[in-house]
Amino acid sequence: IESRHRLRVSWMAPYACQRRTPLLHSNQPLTEVLETLAEEASFSGSEGRSLAFTRAASVLKALPGRLSALEELGPLPGIGEHSRRVIQDVLEDGVSVEVERVKLSERYRTMKLFTRIFGVGVRTASRWYQEGLRTLVDLQERNTKLTRQQQAGLRHYEDLNTPVERGEAEFIGQMVQEAVQRFLPGASVTLAGGFRRGKPHGHDIDLLLTHPEAGREAGLLSRAVCLSPDQGLILYQHSQENSFTLHESPEAPGGRDLLDRFERCFSIFRLEVRGGPGAARGWKAVRVDLVVAPVSQFPFALLGWTGSRHFERELRRFAGHERKMVLNSHTLYDTRRNLFLPAASEEEIFQHLGLEYVPPAQRNA
Ligand code: TTP
Ligand code: MN
Ligand code: MN
Ligand code: MN
Repeated sequence: IESRHRLRVSWMAPYACQRRTPLLHSNQPLTEVLETLAEEASFSGSEGRSLAFTRAASVLKALPGRLSALEELGPLPGIGEHSRRVIQDVLEDGVSVEVERVKLSERYRTMKLFTRIFGVGVRTASRWYQEGLRTLVDLQERNTKLTRQQQAGLRHYEDLNTPVERGEAEFIGQMVQEAVQRFLPGASVTLAGGFRRGKPHGHDIDLLLTHPEAGREAGLLSRAVCLSPDQGLILYQHSQENSFTLHESPEAPGGRDLLDRFERCFSIFRLEVRGGPGAARGWKAVRVDLVVAPVSQFPFALLGWTGSRHFERELRRFAGHERKMVLNSHTLYDTRRNLFLPAASEEEIFQHLGLEYVPPAQRNA
């Protein structure tokens, strides 16, 4: 009787972009431990090891049901020996001793605390840890040198580590839409990132701006949003001009992955709230990423900014290894035919790549 409910998975497409990965899946306890190990590996600078755990977690997220024994899995791509051992421990004992040890370790906890500061990456956090810093108070008391971004991150630490709700994301999207429309009628604002994949909350709000007439979008951010006189709304902003031109040769596959060169603004908005954290103050700080794409690059930007990060990484790996194409958030380039492949929609990009279309809600790899 039990065997009726057992999974039997002997095959799975090797790239995450060839699979459908829903937001909710049946193997949460397993993917959580694997992702903890992925995070811990990246904290130690072991990107390869981190990727291996991320890949294993991603495979489990795409399983058609709950895994109850390792034997239910054939030799699937992307689940290495170490991951198998951890999965087995959790299936048999409910916990992995290794993961519990990681979670309690001073280094992991401190790295987690520091990397949650807006503007602090693994390298900075690691340096602070080596200097003996352990708490946010340590940073202040020892007069640690902070960038303007990190200062803002520290000032709004609590708020920025409180999940943003979908309703808040839609509200801010609307607000930006109105501001942008005033400066440039016809401009559009699209909610990307985790919210577009159906997440009910997220760590920030990713907004993609464009205009149907090529060239009209240039400079939109500095004019409409980030340098607006409405300064009370924006607690922090760091803008960057577009630095992309089609004349340079596309970056080789496997290059610095998710970075792009759009005009953009990493900001912190002040959002009026009635309930929840910050209710007493009447407002809370929320991270907003604003990106401006020319209309011809919009589908690529939308695909790139919808994520998940692992899905994007896999798309680019697939394009390079399987198709000899270079995909980024600006363009798709075919190196065999030496030409750019234009696209008017995300669907067309998948077509160029010879991939079945994966809707945003199934990109939670
Ligand atoms: P994130 O906002 O970091 O992640 P998320 O929206 O999936 O989840 P959450 O915010 O709830 O934690 O990134 C969204 C996408 O944006 C991700 O697929 C990568 C892409 N991205 C770029 O393309 N370039 C960049 O410079 C950055 C920071 C992100
Ligand atoms: Mn996001
Ligand atoms: Mn995040
Ligand atoms: Mn973001």
